[in-house]
Amino acid sequence: MPDISPSLLASRPVVPRPAQVVPGEEGGLTLTAATRVSADPEARGTLVWLQRELGAATGLPLATGAEDSEIRLSVDPGAGLGREGYRLIVDDEGAIIIGNDPAGVFYGAQTLRQLLPAAAHRDAPLGDTAWTLPAVRVTDAPRFAWRGLMLDTARHFIPKREVLRYIDLLALHKMNVLHLHLSDDQGWRVEIRRYPELTRKGSWRTRSQVGVPRPGEEPEFEERPHGGFYTQDDIREIVAYASARHIGVVPEIDVPGHSQAAIHAYPELGEAGEIPVGQRWGIFEEVLAVTDGVVEFYKNVIDELLELFPGTYFHVGGDECPKTQWKGSETARERIRAEGLADEDELQSWFIRQLDDHLTARGRRLVGWDEILEGGLAPGATVVSWRGEEGGIAAARAGHDVVMSPTATSYLDYKQSESEDEPVRVGTLLRTEDVYLAEPVPAELTAEEARHVLGAQVNVWTEHIDTPRRLDYMVFPRLSAFAEKVWSAHERDYAEFEPRLLHHLTRLDAAGVEYRPVDGPRPWHTRPGVHGWG
Ligand code: ACM
Repeated sequence: MPDISPSLLASRPVVPRPAQVVPGEEGGLTLTAATRVSADPEARGTLVWLQRELGAATGLPLATGAEDSEIRLSVDPGAGLGREGYRLIVDDEGAIIIGNDPAGVFYGAQTLRQLLPAAAHRDAPLGDTAWTLPAVRVTDAPRFAWRGLMLDTARHFIPKREVLRYIDLLALHKMNVLHLHLSDDQGWRVEIRRYPELTRKGSWRTRSQVGVPRPGEEPEFEERPHGGFYTQDDIREIVAYASARHIGVVPEIDVPGHSQAAIHAYPELGEAGEIPVGQRWGIFEEVLAVTDGVVEFYKNVIDELLELFPGTYFHVGGDECPKTQWKGSETARERIRAEGLADEDELQSWFIRQLDDHLTARGRRLVGWDEILEGGLAPGATVVSWRGEEGGIAAARAGHDVVMSPTATSYLDYKQSESEDEPVRVGTLLRTEDVYLAEPVPAELTAEEARHVLGAQVNVWTEHIDTPRRLDYMVFPRLSAFAEKVWSAHERDYAEFEPRLLHHLTRLDAAGVEYRPVDGPRPWHTRPGVHGWG
């Protein structure tokens, strides 16, 4: 007989922590070849997911059955579970998941998988596992509506299969926003049919800076081309795969700074003629010109992307746009005069407003980094607060929605310890416990203002993250801590979380995630001789 004592439940702590977990009286449910699953029509997506994922891990058919199946999935908006909420009840008769909505059913299924042995996160059965669920009653719903991860696919390309893997990892953590940074100085990563040079010329660079030069020294380069891009079919696949896992994909095309790759492809977009795709990391003076033609170009790019990305939000960047070129530009001076603008900050706002009008007219919402506040915020804009909390506070007070993502608590490219062995240390120290404990909602906001905080996201900038293995090292386990913070409304005590996290790492091991070990990097994680900053 498998162990179905209450300690089985205690030995399978769920991450992120559910709102309420009540142990069952006795018993539990053991999945066998005879176990059937059934679902309401609205819950069929989760049925398919369970059969695919749990079927692969357990080797059990989990065949679709009638209403008296051992596992039942249903949607009941009248059950009072709250947006994305669910109830999961397991006893020795069966398991039932009732979701407030299809997303709730999906999260209930993720919890069900975590109540099984960690091997439930593998892709094939090991052959000796008892698939026993402890008797339990879980009632759960998320704290925030926006639980996001940004991947920078521009500095180093992240292949499609890795994006799909990350979607599964987000789903495992009940996260629901994948923000893809698709363009920057160093690369343009998405096919645009109307402008083929964006990927033909803009999706690759001849060489890449390695690390960060010490003060007074010149940067070093890896003399090897780097590139890659997603075709429109790749994007359709990514978006559909994410949607089946209740994750919305937010595309970002970064303007009017961080645009060298686009300017390389179409020099008329810029102020400086022909320039290469960026090879170095940093902030550069080459920015977009503020001509009607440039605005038109980006509206056309947006229109193609809106066909691919059906979600509400479209991110236009807006960060780190030096105004040097505009200060010396006749076109910019003329635009400032013609539009009655005060200065170059208002000129940037004018540019963003053109895109905001365009997106609003199409029923979408513009998102931008907090620089879009400077020179006046576009009426429909949602702000991602990254330079601390100030942008988020100002935007929420002005009645705009905000997503909190301050560098000090949200930048997963930042160093995880002060050790010399930490690969390419950049930024300020950001340990798992720092991510876990930092409160997303700024203390300065009133309850009314805080309603504008949609949630939070973590960002992974990839200047120094050139492989999926390095990505895993930087993202995990910090993402697990972040996921609990944005899902769970419980007070957070790291001493309470840490043992659950250690168990959760066995799930990440089963899923093949190469997370940073809690006691620090292994020899193969280090990058000897590659210098960072901060
Ligand atoms: C940013 O980190 N430049 C948004």
